[in-house]
Amino acid sequence: MDFFADTAEVSELRQLVGLGLLDGVTTNPSLIAKSGRKMTEVIAEICAITSRPVSAEVVATSTEYMIAEGKELAAIGPNVVVKVPLTEDGLSACRAFVLSGIKVNVTLCFSLVQAIVAAKAGATYISPFVGRLDDINLDGMQLIRDIRDVYDVQRYDTQILAASVRSANHLGEAALAGADAVTAPAAVLRGLIKHPLTDAGLAKFMADWQSTQPRPV
Ligand code: E4P
Repeated sequence: MDFFADTAEVSELRQLVGLGLLDGVTTNPSLIAKSGRKMTEVIAEICAITSRPVSAEVVATSTEYMIAEGKELAAIGPNVVVKVPLTEDGLSACRAFVLSGIKVNVTLCFSLVQAIVAAKAGATYISPFVGRLDDINLDGMQLIRDIRDVYDVQRYDTQILAASVRSANHLGEAALAGADAVTAPAAVLRGLIKHPLTDAGLAKFMADWQSTQPRPV
């Protein structure tokens, strides 16, 4: 399963590259707005750090403008994946991008049938939002399982990119559910390394080791 970082902060991405934990990046208009920088500038900087897939989301809402904006984003680098919302206009734009060889991430997916229509439109990735479904007391992870089952039965090759993943537990469950990739904040990805028993075990090893060392006189 690929690990994508859901961030527009380049310093966070550098740390993940150093840990070997970065298989791709996703951004969205909220994350870019938070960075206070221009979308094209941030995406170009991220593409200079990684050659893995980088999702850049259009902010236009009509097919025509989404296509124009998406082409501009795709021109930034060969690894740019244009992200479009799961709307009629978004799926029409998806179709146009796919026919011109541009990879597409269809985002804001909240149901199995939405995932099916995105696959039929040729999406490279579908992004079901696990955390936001959990927020309204629905079962986000069940959606990942259901999409996995249907994509396998129907032989859709769209990749399932579990999104709105907010904890280590979410991430482990997405792996069990058969997601092809997850996208999560950098802090969640780095948090996967941590376990209190590792810290306690290391402290004990160090203390035992030190106790055998000659004391300075
Ligand atoms: C996915 O591509 C989105 O950027 C992201 O995962 C949304 O996560 P959130 O629901 O925690 O904002």
